[in-house]
Formats: sequence, structure tokens, C-alpha cells
Amino acid sequence: MSEARTIAHPNLALSKYWGKREGSLERVPAVPSLSVTLGGLATRTFVRFDASLVDDRVLIGGEEARGEARARVVGVVDRVRAAAGEKRRVLVESANDFPTASGLASSASAFAALALAGVRAAGLDWDAARVSDLARRGSVSAARSVFGGYVELDAGGESARPVAPCDHMPLAVLVCVTTDQRKAIGSTEGMRTTMERSPYAHAWLDAAPRLHAELRAALLARDFEHVGELAEASALAMHACAIAAGVVYWNGATIDTLAAVRALRGAGTPVYATVDAGPHVKVLARASEAARVRDAMRAAPGVERVIEARPGEGARLVDEVIT
Ligand code: PMV
Repeated sequence: MSEARTIAHPNLALSKYWGKREGSLERVPAVPSLSVTLGGLATRTFVRFDASLVDDRVLIGGEEARGEARARVVGVVDRVRAAAGEKRRVLVESANDFPTASGLASSASAFAALALAGVRAAGLDWDAARVSDLARRGSVSAARSVFGGYVELDAGGESARPVAPCDHMPLAVLVCVTTDQRKAIGSTEGMRTTMERSPYAHAWLDAAPRLHAELRAALLARDFEHVGELAEASALAMHACAIAAGVVYWNGATIDTLAAVRALRGAGTPVYATVDAGPHVKVLARASEAARVRDAMRAAPGVERVIEARPGEGARLVDEVIT
């Protein structure tokens, strides 16, 4: 068996990873992070080692990948080849069923699905922790998407680990896609610039582990409101640090959406916001209040559409055909 099909989901960091370990070329996070894997949105990936191929082929969303995107995929496949003694060239086909401009890190689901498919296609019997370590070489956040539910990755960590299952805390994530989609600065470049230039880089490196530890404890206690407050604090601290280095992911609609979340909260609904390396706002709500919060966010100025997600499973093998 030299081929495998997998599926993996994106994840949303509640306590954020921002910054790599100094001097590390290996994508090692400088701070711990805790995320929730998001069901309903998926990357499907097919990998085949094929003796008839003269070069590696990487198709993303039906299009031939080139340059840096292709190199990152081939870099992960090269590690699989080295471990398995595999000499054949590879065909990789990967497709997302959610819009890449949705502000959900497609690299997380993409590299989690790729790592698992590559390992299985090469006949390696690696456990999930080893697959997670491999996925991290493509994108740090991908290490977390190998697992389902609530997942953490230590500072300096090589592989992520599950913290609590999907049904641990009934959460809804409402991804508010904002208008004005300029091309965002990539996360690798954004965090490098932040660490080099932000006068608040040390403050972030100091605060992030504390926010993470508190958030982890609140999650284990199923304290939704405290988890939400800390998730919002983590995102605001990360962006304040980045903005001070001139790394600005927000636009006017981001600010308006954050204000709409605060207004809802002021009116008595426990909702909290988080933002990643882009202008979109992700709103955390209790699952029981998701429909009402979704309607309120749809009406907020600057919100183009709202995508609803719930905690989901980790990366896994599938039999289905990519469409
Ligand atoms: O690992 P990357 O390159 O996808 O970076 C992820 C950065 C954030 O999404 C902003 C935070 C996180 O922990 O996912």
C-alpha cells in the first residue's frame, strides 16, 4: 500500500502561539498554545508514492503548487521518505472545503492531513504524537490539528497533546468574515518582524505562558466565561505586541466587529472575540446561544458572512474520493 487519503480540520487557538524559539530553523514555538479543533470545515488530502513519476507533484485545490508552498509540502514528504527509506516521487492532492480567505488557518488542517497521509502511504506505523511532530515542520499550528477537541502545544514542544475531548465544553465558534480582504502578512514573517522589532516582545513572551496556564485551568474547570475572557486577552496581547512592530492584521471592520462583541457582552450575553493573522474576528459563544449570537454578528457593520463551527475530531484516514 503506497497511498493514503486523510481528512483534517483547522483549529482555533484560544491561547495564541506567536513567535518561534530564537535561532530555531525547525518551527519550534516560543510560547505554549491551546486550541480547539473545528469540525465541519476540512482539508482532504491524498498521497501516493509512485515509481512512474519523474518529479514530485503537488496539487492544492486542483492547481499545481509552486515556489514556497510546494517546497513546504515537499519538505514534509522528504522527512517521511528519509524515515521510510522511500525513494519514489510523490503525488500530493489537497483540497479545502472552506474558503481560504475565511481567516481560518488552512495550513493547520493542510499539514496535519499531509503528515498523516504521508506517514501511512509510506507504511510507517507512527503514533499520533510523532505525526504531530512531523506536521509541526510544515506549520506549528498543524501539530495541534492532528488531535481533536481541545489540544495544547508546549513552548519548545515538538508534538501537541489532547487536553479535553470535543464534548468537554459545549462551545460554538462563529467566524465573522470581515470586508476589505487585503493580503495579510504571512504568520512566519509577521512573527519574525514582531520578535525583532516590537518593544513589547519580552512582555508577550512573559505574559503568554501565564495566560495559557490560566486558560488551561479554566477549561478543565469548564468555566466558559473565564476561558472566553482569557482567550480574548491572549489575542489582544498578541496583536498589541505585533502592532507595535508595525505588523497590523486589523482593518476598520475588525475594530467594528470587536465593538459589536463588546456591546453584546455589555447587554448580558457571554461572548468573546479572538483574532488570528488576518482581519477576521472569531466569536466564542455557548453552543446553546449560537443561533442568537450568529444573527447578531451577521447584523454587525463590516461583517460579510458568518461561518459556524463546533469542536471536531483530529486527523484521520478516510476511504472517500476527493471531489
Ligand atoms: O503555525 P502558523 O504559521 O499557522 O501560525 C499560527 C499563528 C496564529 O494562528 C495567529 C496563532 C495560533 O496559535 O494558531
